[in-house]
Amino acid sequence: MRVIIEKDYQAMSKKAALLVASQVRLKPSSVLGLATGSTPLGMYDELIEMYEDDEIDFSQVKTFNLDEYCNLSPENPQSYHYYMQNNFFKHINISPENTHLLNGMTDDVKKECKSYDRKIKRSGGIDLQVLGIGPNGHIGFNEPGKKLNVRTHEVELAEETIEANSRFFDTKDEVPRRAITVGIATILKSRRILLLASGRNKAKAIRETISGYVSTQVPASLLQTHPEVTVIIDEEAADLI
Ligand code: F6R
Repeated sequence: MRVIIEKDYQAMSKKAALLVASQVRLKPSSVLGLATGSTPLGMYDELIEMYEDDEIDFSQVKTFNLDEYCNLSPENPQSYHYYMQNNFFKHINISPENTHLLNGMTDDVKKECKSYDRKIKRSGGIDLQVLGIGPNGHIGFNEPGKKLNVRTHEVELAEETIEANSRFFDTKDEVPRRAITVGIATILKSRRILLLASGRNKAKAIRETISGYVSTQVPASLLQTHPEVTVIIDEEAADLI
């Protein structure tokens, strides 16, 4: 694991964007695994700026997002479809047919999960997977537990995650209780992984991820088993390492 500590959120975002850009320059048809949430917003802004300055071309890039809430329509501003469209895709030259997100509105979750895993496989697999991390050590929506589901699957969100994500909703009751997420095996099969974290509330999870025991109780600790992980964090998130 390569750990890079940057001064603050802005520097972390810039560094992350440079890493994504170098991946895309090296392989213009890269398959990127993408995350939502607050953490990658600065990175997306930096990438948009690079695109506007003609420094990066997304025309051949394919993307697969990590997760989506169940029963939120793509038009719902809290859905990850809406987030990706508005914070990234509509600002760059990516083809809509090259962007993939799980359908949280599906009647047949199992079928949706299988078909998503198949699409990732058919695209040649993820070249670079971008991850955020929950304060409880989740990646994607793979929540801590005795067992982890390796494939794409439906999950019940942990109380801590509902609490953490309630800041995006008017009330905590509006946060969906269920989501679909790619599983740990799908994440670990990516050729390279980029984990981002910012802020004091991520410090404990980061310490456990980098130097704790590998345990399903801290899903991000499984990244220790992957040969190509870069962790970019700011000083606050690095507070306990
Ligand atoms: C989002 C995702 C989650 C978030 C995590 C951190 O697609 O997969 O694992 O990365 O919950 O969220 P923020 O960045 O909002 O602190």
